[in-house]
Amino acid sequence: MAISQTQVSIGRNMAMELVRVTETAAIAAARHMGMGDKELVDQAAVDAMRFTLGSISMDGVVVIGEGEKDEAPMLYIGEYIGDGLPPQVDIAVDPIDGTTLLSKGLPGAIAALALSARGTMNVPQQLAYVNKIAVGKDAKDVIDINASVETNLKNVARAMRRKVEEVTVVVLDRPRHEQLLADIRATGARVKLITDGDVAAGIHAALPESGVDVLMGIGGTTEGVLTAAAIRCIDGAIQCKAWPRNDEEREAAADAGLDLEKVYTTEDLVGGDDVFFAATGASSGDLLKGVRFFAEGAQTQSLVMRSRSGTLRWIDSIHDFSRLDKGSYQEDQQ
Ligand code: FBP
Repeated sequence: MAISQTQVSIGRNMAMELVRVTETAAIAAARHMGMGDKELVDQAAVDAMRFTLGSISMDGVVVIGEGEKDEAPMLYIGEYIGDGLPPQVDIAVDPIDGTTLLSKGLPGAIAALALSARGTMNVPQQLAYVNKIAVGKDAKDVIDINASVETNLKNVARAMRRKVEEVTVVVLDRPRHEQLLADIRATGARVKLITDGDVAAGIHAALPESGVDVLMGIGGTTEGVLTAAAIRCIDGAIQCKAWPRNDEEREAAADAGLDLEKVYTTEDLVGGDDVFFAATGASSGDLLKGVRFFAEGAQTQSLVMRSRSGTLRWIDSIHDFSRLDKGSYQEDQQ
C-alpha cells in the first residue's frame, strides 16, 4: 500500500477510545482461555473489537485485519469503520496476538490495535514473514538488519553502556532461528525464547528497564507493522526485511514491485506525525497483566500510547458488567 501524498492530521487524542476497543477484545477472548481452540478466542476478539471500533467517530479503513473480504466477514482489509466523519485513518488490528498462547492458557497474549492518518501504514501484504530487529531509544540509531548479529549486539551494548553479556535478546522459539540463536549465543548475550507473541515482545524490548533489550528474528509481517506503530510512540526503532518462504512468495512480491532487499524502517512501516497504539493483556505476560474476572465484572491492564506526545499510559480498569453496554462486554455481542 503506497503512502499517500495527502496525509491528514488526526487532531484529537483517540487514546481512550482505542483502549476501550482492546479492552473489550481481550475480555471477550479471555472467556475462552485454555479451551484449546485458537479460532474461538480469535473470533470472540474480532467480534468484540468490531463492535466497539464501529462506535468511534472516524473515517477508518482497515489496512491490517483478518484477511480478504471473502475470507473474513469482519475487520477485513479494506473495510470502512466508523461513522465516516473525520479524521481519515488507517487501522491495523491484531484482535489477539498469541491465539495459541491464550487457547492454552499460557502467558503473553494481547489484543492490539494501531491507528494513524490515512495512507501512512505501509504493509507489504505479499510477504507473510519478515526478518526483524527492534530496540528502544538508546540503541535506535545503531541497529542495521544487514549487519551481522555480532556487530548489532556489540553496537547495541555500547549504545546502552553495557557489556554484550548484559544485553538480553528475545527470539521466537522456531527451528528457523537455529543459526540466529547460535550467533547470538556466540556473542555471550543473554537469550529469552518465546513460543509466540512477538508484538508484545518487540514492545517490551523497546521499553526501558524491561529486562529485554532487543527483539531479533523472523515473525509475521503484520505483527511487524503493529510493533512499528508502538515503537514510533516509544521512540525506539524497528527494521524489517522480506523473508519469503518459497518461490511463490518471491514471485508474488516481485509482481507487486516489492524490492526484497529493501530495509523497512519504523517510519517506512508507519509514517505520519500522529500514531496511536493500544494493547490490553488477555493472558498475563511480561508486558501486561491478563484479564481477571470477578462476579459481574473483570479487571484489565492496557498500554496506550501516542507518537505526537510520546505519552505512554498503563491503564488498569475495572469493568462492571451489570452497568456496561452488554453488547460490548458479554458473550452474546453482535
Ligand atoms: P497468532 O496469534 O496470529 O497465531 O500469531 C502469533 C505469532 O507468534 C506472532 O506473534 C508472530 O509474529 C507469528 O505468530 C510467528 O509466526 P509462526 O508461528 O508461523 O512462526
